[in-house]
Amino acid sequence: MLVYEGKAKRVFATDDDQVYRIAYKDEVTAGNGAKKDSMAGKGRLNNMITSRFFELLADAGYASHFIKRLSETEQLVRKVEIIPLEVVVRNIAAGSITKRLGFTKGEAFKAPLVEFYYKKDELNDPIVTDDHVKLLGIADDKDISELKDQALKINTILIDIMNKMSLDLVDFKIEFGKDKAGNILLADEISPDTCRIWDKETKENFDKDVYREDTGSLIDTYTHFYKKMEAL
Ligand code: C5P
Repeated sequence: MLVYEGKAKRVFATDDDQVYRIAYKDEVTAGNGAKKDSMAGKGRLNNMITSRFFELLADAGYASHFIKRLSETEQLVRKVEIIPLEVVVRNIAAGSITKRLGFTKGEAFKAPLVEFYYKKDELNDPIVTDDHVKLLGIADDKDISELKDQALKINTILIDIMNKMSLDLVDFKIEFGKDKAGNILLADEISPDTCRIWDKETKENFDKDVYREDTGSLIDTYTHFYKKMEAL
C-alpha cells in the first residue's frame, strides 16, 4: 500500500508495521518543482548510491533508517516519522548561502555550518533559527542539539568517504525521523541530488547542479560518480 509519494520516491507499507519499502522514481526536479523532468535510470542511480552511502555509514558505526537494498530501485527502511526539517551542512560556500550572505563560491569555511530549513513546499522551505524550530513545535532543545551532533558526525564520515574518491563534499541536505521508541534516525536519501560534490583538482561537478544550471548530463554525471563509489 502506498503511504506517501514525494517528488523522487514512493513509500510503501510492508507486512511488518515497523518497516517501509521505498521505490525511487525517475523524476528529477529543481527549485521546489519549478524545473521538472523524467530521466530513465535516474531512480536506479539514486537508489544504488544512497544504499551504498547508508552501508558505508553503517560500516563507520553510524546507524540510519536503512535496512537493505531490495532491488536496483528499491530499499527496505525502518519506519520513522519524518521531522519536517531539512538539515543542511556546509563545508564550502556554494548555492543559496552565496546569494543570501554574500560568500564567494568555493570559499572554505573554518568549521562546518549546520542550518535548518522548514520542510514546507507552500512556503518554499524557509531557513529557520533554533527558536523558530521550537516555536513551530518541531523539536525541543535536546532534539535540536542531537540533530546538530548527528549532522556533524555524518559530515565527518562523508568527508572521509569523499576524500578516498579525491572529491570535496561542499554541502549536503539530510532529513531525520523518529522511530516508535522516539529515537532520532537519519532517513530519506544521500545522493548527488542532495549533496554538492566537486573534484578536488578539476573542480568538476558530481551533483544536481549540472541539472539546475544546465551544464551537462545528469545521468552521465551520476553514473560517473557511482563508478567512483563502486571502486572504493
Ligand atoms: O540550495 P542550497 O545551497 O541551500 O542547498 C544546500 C544543499 O542542500 C545542496 O547540496 C542541495 O543539493 C541540498 N538541498 C536539497 N534539497 C533541498 C534544498 C537543498 O537536497 N530542497
